[in-house]
Amino acid sequence: MTYVVTDACIKCKYMDCVEVCPLPCFAAGEIMLVIDPTRCIECGLCEPVCPANAIVHESDIRARHWLEINQLYSDKWPAVFRKGTPFSDADDWKGVSGKADMFSPSPALTEVGPGKQTGT
Ligand code: SF4
Ligand code: F3S
Repeated sequence: MTYVVTDACIKCKYMDCVEVCPLPCFAAGEIMLVIDPTRCIECGLCEPVCPANAIVHESDIRARHWLEINQLYSDKWPAVFRKGTPFSDADDWKGVSGKADMFSPSPALTEVGPGKQTGT
């Protein structure tokens, strides 16, 4: 079991979650983060710190579909360990519905964690 980043993260990407995670669970896409379900220990620390309420437990109905996305893209996107500078319009996207259609499979260009491939 794991926690899951949902579409509420899209274009918000505050990254507060990364700062509290005790493990290298997060990977960064261009406009959202995902959690690696194979690393998450379900400590739950990330869920309450997300200003966009984008993180849910996989048992939550809102995790449906996004669990698959988290699984898939945590293997493709670079790991992220530190909060970067959020988008200047992040607050404008907070709570906006229908963001799922804006999903981008592109990896982040600026977060440069060592990633899974280096074994860290
Ligand atoms: Fe990291 Fe804990 Fe959140 Fe899992 S639940 S991603 S281990 S902070
Ligand atoms: Fe996204 Fe919330 Fe983290 S908006 S980057 S899940 S703090």
